[in-house]
Amino acid sequence: MPVLTGFSHENHRLACDGIPLDDLAAAHGTPLYVYSAALLRARYTALDEAFGARPHAIHYALKANSALAIARLLCELGAAADANSAGEIDVALRAGFAAGQIVFTGVGKTRAELERAIALGVRAINAESAGELTRIDAIAGAAGSRARVALRVNPDIDAGTHPHISTGLHVNKFGVSLDEAHEIFASLARWPHLSIVAIHMHVGSQVTSLEPIGRAGAVMVDTVRGLRARGVALEYVDMGGGLGISYDGACVPGPAAYVAALVEALRPIDDLPIVIEPGRAIVGPAGALLATVVDVKVRRHADREQRFVVLDAGMTELMRPALYGAFHRIEALEERSGELVSTDVVGPSCESTDVVGTERSLPPLQVGDRVAIRDAGAYGFAMASNYLRRPLPAEVLVDGDRTRVIRRRQTVEDLLALEA
Ligand code: LLP
Repeated sequence: MPVLTGFSHENHRLACDGIPLDDLAAAHGTPLYVYSAALLRARYTALDEAFGARPHAIHYALKANSALAIARLLCELGAAADANSAGEIDVALRAGFAAGQIVFTGVGKTRAELERAIALGVRAINAESAGELTRIDAIAGAAGSRARVALRVNPDIDAGTHPHISTGLHVNKFGVSLDEAHEIFASLARWPHLSIVAIHMHVGSQVTSLEPIGRAGAVMVDTVRGLRARGVALEYVDMGGGLGISYDGACVPGPAAYVAALVEALRPIDDLPIVIEPGRAIVGPAGALLATVVDVKVRRHADREQRFVVLDAGMTELMRPALYGAFHRIEALEERSGELVSTDVVGPSCESTDVVGTERSLPPLQVGDRVAIRDAGAYGFAMASNYLRRPLPAEVLVDGDRTRVIRRRQTVEDLLALEA
């Protein structure tokens, strides 16, 4: 028996770790998110093992998918956590992460969030500006404590990602510029209640070239050396997240190549542990969104026919195609005979951008057929919304021969429960 990990075709049916997805859709309804625990473990372990003996910590970026069961699974594997809000800090604690395993990132942290992070004693607050350092310092001073801070430096590097998810450019709102970082380092005495424990950088998300990683590493090395010259000793360096995945089957660097590039770039400071904050690379390929065809229509143009397949899932369940024009493979759950036809797969909402994929070669799907939208484990459910009063989908985790509903489908009653 081959080891079945993730999503693959078996006997003409698409399956997750050997369990036919059609059976899951029939049992739990659609739209439905399905995750492979085996693939989640494999993706985490590949990153972890790639570091070899190099001291490191993998702070899973909860923003990609903070389902409690997934966070817990990663915690049990030995991951630490990257939280982007007080809500994610609470989820991390509930999932079993200790406060000292959590880094707290975010471009606009509120006073209440900072107070909570300082009181908890998180591993570091990744600070975004001199103003934020001053606010953290005041809160820590008032609490009679010392806050652990990593300064987020914006290295002005083009990571070649979609403009909506680039973060490391001078024009992006994130972090402080290198010049400003040096001004901050020159005046650390202004913030007596802070310890600068690390430098933090994150050049972008869905990075599919190792070249920007090497350049960011070089900037990190220079920055750390500058700090050392001032007598500031750091505990670790945080290179952020960003490793991309292949949405369309093209070749992209995997965990081993990515980690090797990081380790190589940071070799001059190899006494400092490396922290990374991956989200997508761990959870993206481990999830699929299942949907059912609710309508099919053919529009006749002068020179061609346009075939629309309307699903019961779209931008409210998976926003990436509408927001970034992102590509996700769409596959029929059961093979259907007939020639492949060019198909525009669209969501049900009243927005023209609610398109899941255009001009896809698909079998002649009929109403009632089901499809999987692949690689939806990251930034899928996490960015879903209740627009049009659409309840959030259920989520199922396949773990060996056990299938667990890790989040029940939301109901309209759930939504109304909050309202007067
Ligand atoms: N650390 C920081 C500081 C970040 O801003 C991010 C992502 C991560 C780590 C995790 O990045 P990852 O390893 O997942 O690439 N919604 C977009 C992605 C936005 C990413 C924002 N920051 C998408 O669906 O493509």
